[in-house]
Amino acid sequence: MIIAIDGPAASGKGTLGKRLAQHYGYRHLDTGVIYRAVAKMLLDQGFELTDEVRAVAAAMALDPTKFDHPELKSQRIGDAASVVSAFPKVRDALVSFQRQFAADPPGAVLDGRDIGTVICPDADVKIFVVADPQVRARRRTLEARGRGEEADEALVLADIIRRDERDRNRAAAPLKAAADAHILDNSNLDIEGGVRAAIAIVEAVLARR
Ligand code: DC
Repeated sequence: MIIAIDGPAASGKGTLGKRLAQHYGYRHLDTGVIYRAVAKMLLDQGFELTDEVRAVAAAMALDPTKFDHPELKSQRIGDAASVVSAFPKVRDALVSFQRQFAADPPGAVLDGRDIGTVICPDADVKIFVVADPQVRARRRTLEARGRGEEADEALVLADIIRRDERDRNRAAAPLKAAADAHILDNSNLDIEGGVRAAIAIVEAVLARR
């Protein structure tokens, strides 16, 4: 059983992925963390984010099983990840790990931008999470402040809009809903409401089998 969750930055897909995995007893992979780790590797080594050769080398050298998650969560690394993830060869280097993760028993929930379209086109359930940019900016700002970081909501909103544009308009595996994805509008739902809506989608798909 594979559940694919895609959506734009700060739409809540990570939280939904984690909660769905807990609910069904599946493993969870936040695929954004992988691209964030590639970006961080490049920045730590002092290379430009636009250096494709170094970015591909970083992606190939990456051990996706070993990440220091909290360090990767910052806005700066998220934006950098959006840049390096546009290189098709960076994406290619990370496909097999993601597909293997999805295939291992007992089941998996993967969240990202291209899970339902490219990584797992045959996923059992596909959910595409959307939410108003203002709502996403608010949530991200509160999250960052919760971690003790300073965050200006207007700047966070600008970053989210810029990142979505880049992720949607790139040639390789752009952010978009698969034709058979269920759209979940998370704008007016709290976490528990979103989780209930996501479980309802999964249950409806399972009931039709
Ligand atoms: O979901 P996130 O904010 O952690 O993702 C960071 C960036 O990584 C995102 O802006 C684009 C890229 N990404 C991607 O291209 N494909 C994925 N499956 C996940 C993330």
